Amino acid sequence: MRTLLLLTTLSALLTAAPPAAVVHGGAGSPRIRMDGTDKAAAKALAGLKGGAPALEAALAGVVALEDDPRFNAGTGANIRLDGKTIQMDAACMDGETGGFGAVAAIERVKNPVLVARKVMATPHLLIVGEGATRFARALGFPDYDPTCAENKARFQRVQAILKGSDPRQIEAWKRYDWKAAWNFPTPLKEALGPSDTVGCVTRDAKGRFAAAISTGGTTITFYGRVGDVPMYGAGIYAGPKGAVACTGNGEDIIKHLVAKAAYDLLEKGLSAQQAVDRTLAAFPPRVDLGLVAIGPDSTGGGCNYSAEKKAFVTDYQAQMAWSVGQ
Ligand code: GLY
Repeated sequence: MRTLLLLTTLSALLTAAPPAAVVHGGAGSPRIRMDGTDKAAAKALAGLKGGAPALEAALAGVVALEDDPRFNAGTGANIRLDGKTIQMDAACMDGETGGFGAVAAIERVKNPVLVARKVMATPHLLIVGEGATRFARALGFPDYDPTCAENKARFQRVQAILKGSDPRQIEAWKRYDWKAAWNFPTPLKEALGPSDTVGCVTRDAKGRFAAAISTGGTTITFYGRVGDVPMYGAGIYAGPKGAVACTGNGEDIIKHLVAKAAYDLLEKGLSAQQAVDRTLAAFPPRVDLGLVAIGPDSTGGGCNYSAEKKAFVTDYQAQMAWSVGQ
């Protein structure tokens, strides 16, 4: 019996596809930032090749992007409408155990995704706001200000859009009297910009999968707003057949539980690229959406970069930087 078990494990190991990682820098992140996603994919892959489990490698991939100030996560996370608040969401999921951990609207930590990993070890799935920040401090995460030159510059561009001196507009915000609903502790100022969550999905040498994700939220964002990232089945999903990480407008992603929907396609036997393409095709081009996926022997990624969006390509709004490490 033991010999049979050993043989089965050995044969699974021999037939498993080699380790791989797929990383994205967010819908709206320009392809010129692929040096950042390449580096993050290489970091995740190096861990996997060294025997790290899928989950630890996915976290390493996301940490690399959280530490790169050009991306909207960790250092460089979006500054909210008041011009100073930074609230971040992050999550991770282990495809082997089904374990999930997330934080939402956490403030003043360097790597929210590592706090999400700590939540996975608790009986909870999600800890939010001040509770999340205090949870991080209790576990030794030091006070850290994610403000930097990159997110300050992004905030300036956002202000230009809101003031009407930039042609880009976000329809939903044009129609909404956001000034009347101002909920920041400090008085109203003005702002706006792109949403670029970062994410990483991995397959380890034993054929296990994981996903991790982190964001500073969409750019026009109220105090306390939470998007898809920490919502179970929305921003990420991982199981025995693969893993998915999304990016784009969180409200749309939540309504359609996009990560779980794409994972279901992997479970049906579609390749990672087919699952990505079919998921994107279900949304109109005006919806900002991107995703990366990994399956038992495939990787994929893409976003619904539309012709109408091409009209407004700038240094920070174009396609999606994403990379495969294998
Ligand atoms: N996808 C990131 C967010 O909407 O918060």
